Amino acid sequence: MYIGVDYYPEQWPESRWPEDVTLMKELGVNVVRIAEFGWQLMEPEEGRYDFSLYDRAIKLLTENGIKVVLGTPTATPPAWLIQKHPEILPTDENGVQISFGARRHYTVNSRIFHEYTKKIVTEMAMHYGQHPDIIGWQTDNEYGHEKSDRSYGEEDRQSFQAWLEKKYGTLDQLNENWGTVFWSQTYTDWSQIPVPRKVLQEHNPSLLLDFDRFCADAYTSYNKLQTDCLRENIRDDQFLTHNFVYTDQAINQWDMAEDLDYVSYDNYPVWGGLAEPVSPSAIAHQHDLCRGTKNGKGYWVMEELSGAQGWSKIGYLPRPGHIKLWTYQAISRGAEAIVYFRWRAAHFGTEEFCHGILDHDGIPKRKYNEVKEVIDSLKEHGDDWIASKYEAQAAVYYDTENAWAWNIQPQSSAFSHRQELLRHYTPAHKLNVATDAVNSRSSLEGYKVVFVPIYFLENPIFTEKLKRYAENGGTVVFSYRSGVKKPNNFVTGQTLPGELTEMTGITINEYESLQTGQQNKVNGVKGSLSGLESAATVWCDLIDPVTAEVLAEYDDCFYKGTAAVTKNKYGKGTVYYIGTALEETMLTALYKEIFQEAGAEIIETQNGVEVVRREKFLSAMNHSVDRPAEIALPEGNYIDCATNQKIKGALKLAPLASILLKKE
Ligand code: GAL
Repeated sequence: MYIGVDYYPEQWPESRWPEDVTLMKELGVNVVRIAEFGWQLMEPEEGRYDFSLYDRAIKLLTENGIKVVLGTPTATPPAWLIQKHPEILPTDENGVQISFGARRHYTVNSRIFHEYTKKIVTEMAMHYGQHPDIIGWQTDNEYGHEKSDRSYGEEDRQSFQAWLEKKYGTLDQLNENWGTVFWSQTYTDWSQIPVPRKVLQEHNPSLLLDFDRFCADAYTSYNKLQTDCLRENIRDDQFLTHNFVYTDQAINQWDMAEDLDYVSYDNYPVWGGLAEPVSPSAIAHQHDLCRGTKNGKGYWVMEELSGAQGWSKIGYLPRPGHIKLWTYQAISRGAEAIVYFRWRAAHFGTEEFCHGILDHDGIPKRKYNEVKEVIDSLKEHGDDWIASKYEAQAAVYYDTENAWAWNIQPQSSAFSHRQELLRHYTPAHKLNVATDAVNSRSSLEGYKVVFVPIYFLENPIFTEKLKRYAENGGTVVFSYRSGVKKPNNFVTGQTLPGELTEMTGITINEYESLQTGQQNKVNGVKGSLSGLESAATVWCDLIDPVTAEVLAEYDDCFYKGTAAVTKNKYGKGTVYYIGTALEETMLTALYKEIFQEAGAEIIETQNGVEVVRREKFLSAMNHSVDRPAEIALPEGNYIDCATNQKIKGALKLAPLASILLKKE
């Protein structure tokens, strides 16, 4: 398997390169990613191309047995280009043009920028496209990140209007689909339609959702423009990828991935001002999204955190053990290659405090040794591990459009799309149920349970799939505020939960949004919830069961005694509805019952312990920094890949330890 580093030869004197490469070799690195911010070096002035610096770096690396992934440098349009064409710069929602001086300073709708992109990408592709040791290409860097997903300038506005004209054909259609009769917004000419710049109140939600779709489409075509230039000029076996970020940007990774061979992802469990890493389930969910983006295909972690990171604020120092743990977690969940960010901390520039495997002094120390230990540990079994099948038992719905619709109207100050999604993902992660991330494109065949958290923007294709899946015996779990919106972001005219009414066997005739600090109470009344209590926060759907049975009810306010959680028989299957945000203990008890009834395998472990099964391997990671763990292993005989010792029954893990076991 490939394990490597993100390297910036341009940031170091050439006299240091040989030492770097020797150290990389000793470390066991077999790939580097380079050049993704090197536009100015490769095209120092318009039309004059100079690849000599990267040629020399690539020569040195490849002569030493290290393969190369090249980044196209379009995330950093150079100063000469911006001076000549300032209209490339993006514009924020206040109409302020973003300045040159950092990165990602282009609007993806700039036709001029498209032309310059084509030229630099084609030149690069012609220069490096046949190189035997250049194995792949990364387009740009983290599309949409750092608020570069939405731009509100004049050219963006014209492109948005053209996109709408293509989508709706006539203004009547658009007006109807946006409900523009409301507040006299009817458009009589395409050129009247705004991009959603700052208004006194709030924009039309249908316009906002279409704007997000438009921004995502614009990035997809921009990426396609790059992949077309590359494919025309490179060998067939050089792969194309992009390093995605999956946090609610107006980007559609699934669409874009169709033009890529692999998905890549940048894994930063802790960054900048964070006092500690995000939860293990939050990291795991991101990995599931990557694996789900190309339907289960393995992906690259193109940047894997290896040191404290941040710009003006330096983040948490990863503890001894973290590098291995996050690497093992990534591979467990489907990463096929790991590239550590970054080889060495720079002495200058915005990222002076982004530490890497080496710090500013360039001397190999603890982190270098830790990476070495990881690489050594993967030598014998790494390839078999990544090739071994990952079979999920549960599917978790995630749809970018649903996320956008929620972010446009969160409906409660306590609502965070990510947090609510994780609320439902975490029990599965805690119970070590193997999960996949699915959306309307996915097949639901073979899953024991499909959970559809906060299914606000109902997707007719997916709803149909769910119905068929449940009719045929599947188990579906919905959470509060589901089935509310139509694809054009109108509220359904049906009694809630709209299209899901029959499946869930309930109606919802009233609901209450709870703000930060407000809560109701829920009492479990049936099954494993009996006797359990939980706070109810964020939202309360007041459920009227029709055919469903009640598992928990509210215990406060005028709706005391009203159903809060229900279970319904539908066809040969079962459909749950969870009407409020429950605390982890009650939710985990509920999910445990759901998984057990559906026959999904669970492995109970203490908090912070993650166990992932692949067909021929089992890996375990203890994310706790201070609590050792004892894990009851599933039936079978195992061999510890590090020591070759046989293990059966129980396994002990020190804090932050990770282990790979081979099934006998
Ligand atoms: C990533 C980015 C890298 C670097 C890193 C800092 O998001 O792709 O170029 O900025 O963050 O930690």
